[in-house]
Amino acid sequence: MDGGGIPRNCPPFQESPRLAGPSEELIRLMLLGKRGPLERDGKIYNGIMPSWRADLNDDQIAEVLNYLLTTWSPQSRKISAEEVAKVRAETANAKLLPSAQ
Ligand code: HEM
Repeated sequence: MDGGGIPRNCPPFQESPRLAGPSEELIRLMLLGKRGPLERDGKIYNGIMPSWRADLNDDQIAEVLNYLLTTWSPQSRKISAEEVAKVRAETANAKLLPSAQ
């Protein structure tokens, strides 16, 4: 609820280098999902981020990412539905992790 993550599973959104990083990587993470392990501040997170490709459209993915950026990385740029559509097209044949549904 507070973006603090889950120990050993999901990293916290606070101070996330990924939120401050390239938009394309965040969009790929939402569309394809991502498997750990991931190291942050000496701690290992080893979970599976589901793919949202089949569940959320381009507007919804842009909106949820902009919510994260506004809340935890306010100095970062914002993401448009057009950027999501571009990455969706580029990753049309990519291997997906399971969705949350
Ligand atoms: C719409 C809902 C969600 C959004 C917007 C979202 C967004 C994100 C973002 C931005 C990251 C990268 C964090 C970072 O590297 O600092 C992340 C990582 C992760 N998320 Fe999610 N997430 C969502 C739902 C979920 C759910 C439901 C799960 C588990 C069932 C989950 C599991 C994970 C895991 C395990 C990672 C770390 C992946 C890695 O090892 O790199 N996420 N998520």
